[in-house]
Amino acid sequence: MHPIQSTPQFIESLKQFEAAFPDYVQTRDLDQLRARDYARLDDQHHVYLDYTGGSLYAMSQVSRHHQLLADHVFGNPHSTNPSSQLATRLTGEAREKVLSFFNAGDYDCVFTPNATGALKIVGECYPFSENSHFLLPFDNHNSVNGIREFARKKGCPFTYSPITIENLRFSEGVLRENLAAHGTATNKLFAYPAQSNVSGVKHDLAWIGEAQKEGWDVLLDASAFVPTSRLDLSVYKPEFVSMSFYKMFGYPTGLGALLVRKDVFPKLKKPWFAGGTVTLASVMADRFFLDQHHARFEDGTINYLDIPALTIGLEHIESIGIDTINQRVMVLTDWLLQAMRGLVHRNGKPLIQVFGPQDTTGRGATIILNLFGPDGRTLPFIQVEQAANAQNFSIRTGCFCNPGIDEINNELEGNELLHYFDSHESGDYFDMQAHLDKMRGAIRISLGLVSNFSDVFRFVEFLKSFLT
Ligand SMILES: Cc1ncc(COP(=O)(O)O)c(C=O)c1O
Repeated sequence: MHPIQSTPQFIESLKQFEAAFPDYVQTRDLDQLRARDYARLDDQHHVYLDYTGGSLYAMSQVSRHHQLLADHVFGNPHSTNPSSQLATRLTGEAREKVLSFFNAGDYDCVFTPNATGALKIVGECYPFSENSHFLLPFDNHNSVNGIREFARKKGCPFTYSPITIENLRFSEGVLRENLAAHGTATNKLFAYPAQSNVSGVKHDLAWIGEAQKEGWDVLLDASAFVPTSRLDLSVYKPEFVSMSFYKMFGYPTGLGALLVRKDVFPKLKKPWFAGGTVTLASVMADRFFLDQHHARFEDGTINYLDIPALTIGLEHIESIGIDTINQRVMVLTDWLLQAMRGLVHRNGKPLIQVFGPQDTTGRGATIILNLFGPDGRTLPFIQVEQAANAQNFSIRTGCFCNPGIDEINNELEGNELLHYFDSHESGDYFDMQAHLDKMRGAIRISLGLVSNFSDVFRFVEFLKSFLT
């Protein structure tokens, strides 16, 4: 226990918090879980606030997986020998587990190295052409933004749909127009994040159906959504879904998935073949047959030792309950947003600006903010991060691989950005800041499955140290 937790101020704040948010008490099991399975956090007095960067693993996940490896002989799958058969069975079970977790009976599960690997398959294999269109909102991770380069190579035009500076949500009217346009295009792909990795905004899943009605295929990037929210793919049925598993349960890294709705599977045109992806290939005949299912997109030997750990990770989440996780992180987010609003300098100027939604409506547990001095000037986020590092807080700063949001928040102009790119052979974020003489970046706080009141309380106390 951190010494702060025995101060009268903490005890009183906790009492008031529990009275104001009675739902929190219903998630008490998570406190026991944290003490048992994530003891390293409190042993080291670590305040972990970067769950959107990567979730934390439970020690029980690691020991179950290590026991599995210690107890069995695993071999490269898809052979008849017993070590291979075991790997085939356990990787198959993990695949089924992923599909059942998301209620995804209509989908194939392709294992990938991460969400980026999943997005790359769609980018590379979607039948973009001069007569198709790629539509995406400003709020996207670079691994989605990069798909525009696959589209461009095939002559496919693309459109960025704006988000509003006030709440960082889609400009709904414009998006409706964008979706209604391109009526004669043949293959139209609309890609958006179920939850922003930066602002925490949940972009309505109803856009999936709206886009499909207008003839679009939908690529839902669920990476930042699924760690704390339920995704039911029997209710919402995007054509493609991407995710990384370490963002859900921390261990193992190096695995993600592309879920492909079975009826659109043939639409993805793989540009080559490789080991593991074919049922037959010939050298003399210069012909090959691609596998009809997930294996078509799993190049080379799959990660057969780590994939069984996905079953363990998903069982771990199920044993807690994704709705319980959601309930807890949203209550903590609510308190945190309110507490931060109350932080004002002696001269009455606010210490903090939160970008995007100011309350918990239609958002997740990721918050983007900047700190300001009493003169209203932004405190460099590097300074805040260094102070946080020194006190064992894991926060994140920068633009989080999501340049669209950062460009909106800092009110950058397309022309000045173009000028920077066109006048440089190479460059980086800090050089661009100096060149434009404009701020870039912000501070991101994100909560996850074992966040507790002490984490957010200590973070607010940390913020108070910047008050004048
Ligand atoms: C919304 C979103 N999409 C995609 C990614 C890329 O994930 P990965 O780096 O695991 O491939 C991330 C990572 O932060 C993300 O938050």
